[in-house]
Amino acid sequence: MPAFTATAPGKIILFGEHAVVYGQPAIAVPVMQVRARATITPDIRGNAGAVRILAPDIGLDKMLDELDSAHALVAAIEGVTSLLGVTHIPACTLKVSSSIPVASGLGSGAAVSVAVIRALAGYLGKPLPNEQVSALAYEVEKIYHGTPSGIDNTVIAYAHPVYFVRSLTPGPSPAGRGEKPTIETFTIAKPFTIIIADTGISSPTKETVGDVRRGWELEPARYERLFAAIGSITRAVRQAIEGGHPERLGPLMNENHELLGEMGVASPELDRLVFAAQESGALGAKLSGGGRGGNMIALAAAGSEAQICASLQNAGATHTIVTRLGD
Ligand code: PMV
Repeated sequence: MPAFTATAPGKIILFGEHAVVYGQPAIAVPVMQVRARATITPDIRGNAGAVRILAPDIGLDKMLDELDSAHALVAAIEGVTSLLGVTHIPACTLKVSSSIPVASGLGSGAAVSVAVIRALAGYLGKPLPNEQVSALAYEVEKIYHGTPSGIDNTVIAYAHPVYFVRSLTPGPSPAGRGEKPTIETFTIAKPFTIIIADTGISSPTKETVGDVRRGWELEPARYERLFAAIGSITRAVRQAIEGGHPERLGPLMNENHELLGEMGVASPELDRLVFAAQESGALGAKLSGGGRGGNMIALAAAGSEAQICASLQNAGATHTIVTRLGD
């Protein structure tokens, strides 16, 4: 059996985070500058089922059967073996690494899952289509997020911009099971540049999603108005992107950021970066992902990228990425 490597990009949510959990659309794009990588190397002297897991970034070097069954890597591996009906993986070493910052809204967990699932299925000689890779990664996402919408695993597995609408099963909780989201890819008629800036504050999505859930339970009408307003923005954004008017995204970003603030998922650090971007020539800016920390994004007018990045760094950004969409 040959060695097998798979990689998966990071992602950012352009519009619609949080509201997407409640059935509104969201738009996410892959970020190719950062990646997770999984490599499986056969161990010809090992016994079947002896799988060594190496993840130097987090200091992990253990045999698969020494890890907790709730560990995300175990869940990803078991998802593949049970789908493919494999009882013993031929002895091997799985090495996982990633340049995607963790807990910052760039989809590091989903990217690691997608890379591991693809590498293992490939190693076992049964590569899986994107839809199945995404579905397996979604099961692992539940360990990280509690009630994920499924957008991260989708955009990362397909590595293409997506317009995503979760299908909600009837009932009081938005955490439906067996759901099949609407996933539409769309055309970026005119390329545009997004700057991603990290607050350096790690903020687990599970917590902000849980807080929004509690807010929604306490004040359903107010939260549903916020979700609906974000949904309208996201629909307008899709039209602007497909119609070749990306500059229209700027004011919509500012508006979406305000609405996320009203939902309680902004923070002084995120607000400071959003303000710094707006003041240094960005056409608009907003937090991206779960919020409270992690990353924000800004829409850069042509030629203003360096100035915006410098201003973001002065305002406390620990890292910036310039990404061009639609080229
Ligand atoms: O923090 P991120 O980028 O992994 O994304 C969270 C997006 C939410 O809408 C807040 C939650 C979800 O599952 O969609």
